[in-house]
Amino acid sequence: MRTTLFLSAVAGFLCACSTAWAASLPDPINVNIKNLSPEDLAYDRTRQLFYLSNLWKGEIAVWDPKRQSHFNVQIDGLTNLNANGDQQMSGLSLEKHDNPKRLYAVAKNSRAFNFNDQSKSGPSTFHAFDLPLNASSKPVWSIDIRDVQSQFKQKYGTRPFGIVDSAQDNDGNSYVIFALGAPAIAKVTHDGKISTWAFEQGNGGQRPGYTGVAFDPATNKLLAFGGPRALTAFNVKASNPKPHAVTINGSFGTLDGTEKLAYVPVNGQTVLVGARAPYAISFHTTDNWSSASIKKTKRSELKDSGFTGIVDYYSGNQQGVYGSSAFFSEGSKGGRTEWPLYKFDSSILQY
Ligand SMILES: *[C@@H]1O[C@H](CO)[C@@H](O)[C@H](O)[C@H]1NC(C)=O
Ligand SMILES: *[C@@H]1O[C@H](CO)[C@@H](O)[C@H](O)[C@H]1NC(C)=O
Ligand SMILES: *[C@@H]1O[C@H](CO)[C@@H](O)[C@H](O)[C@H]1NC(C)=O
Repeated sequence: MRTTLFLSAVAGFLCACSTAWAASLPDPINVNIKNLSPEDLAYDRTRQLFYLSNLWKGEIAVWDPKRQSHFNVQIDGLTNLNANGDQQMSGLSLEKHDNPKRLYAVAKNSRAFNFNDQSKSGPSTFHAFDLPLNASSKPVWSIDIRDVQSQFKQKYGTRPFGIVDSAQDNDGNSYVIFALGAPAIAKVTHDGKISTWAFEQGNGGQRPGYTGVAFDPATNKLLAFGGPRALTAFNVKASNPKPHAVTINGSFGTLDGTEKLAYVPVNGQTVLVGARAPYAISFHTTDNWSSASIKKTKRSELKDSGFTGIVDYYSGNQQGVYGSSAFFSEGSKGGRTEWPLYKFDSSILQY
């Protein structure tokens, strides 16, 4: 009797604690910017700012969640305020998780994913910015991707296109992924030199390439999400990098609809979280990405919203993982002002 009372008192105490703990992370996080359509985002914990890609306008929105205000960063030759330029902002990534000095931006060709009027050869570009950003920031450098696309074609017979994201390794190199044509990755050094890096033959489908990418600083592995398989690992130290299929322990489900992949450090351990509407799917390894266990959770709000982005957010010591949506089907001038980030159940971070 005594023991039971004592135990339920302890349970009550623990429950109260965990409720209070969970309650202080906002759900959703509100982002209010007209016609934003963010295909990707990153949270800078050091500066307490979100960077969101303005898809149609081809610019970067910097959102301060505390002040509920923003400013935009435009890129000459890319940003089009009428939202009908030849490129669209598809991927944003920070050079590293804590105290990053740079932000990287990927712009895909506007016709790459227009399957009725597709272009494999239109311009797409990659940009590096020094942090902190301000409204008049200009890229440190910008790279036209077309030369490296031609080099891939020359070497392997297929032209990859549709760049959607990048990730950065411990030495400041970037890896830019192609979602269309073939699964391929270009490498860009810290000072902006680009080369072909990894390539494998696609499966002949409409979207054969990788859809998301993240770097795991603990194992020096680059992980590509989607395309030929759920997860593909590359050793960034290899001179001739080969794709290694990561064995998934568990049921991943369909490869259709995978999107971005985020690196989330959890108590010093690496967890990767990928988007596949309406699910967030997390990955954790104990053997250097030879295999991975997975966990899934979903939000019904992300079912038909163009959910593509995953981001980790912090309030004090509390950590949450959120999903962002681009509402692609509403087009470039749909007038939407609210782009809520929905919080996922934190159980997917626990391994
Ligand atoms: C904006 O950032 C750039 C690049 O970091 C810097 O050179 C410039 O002084 C900053 N401008 C303002 C108004 O802070
Ligand atoms: C993990 O992989 C990296 C890159 O392939 C390698 O350098 C390292 O030795 C591996 N570590 C273990 C514990 O297998
Ligand atoms: C996946 O399963 C294999 C075989 O049971 C096991 O050796 C490996 O450690 C597992 N990987 C993870 C990340 O749990």
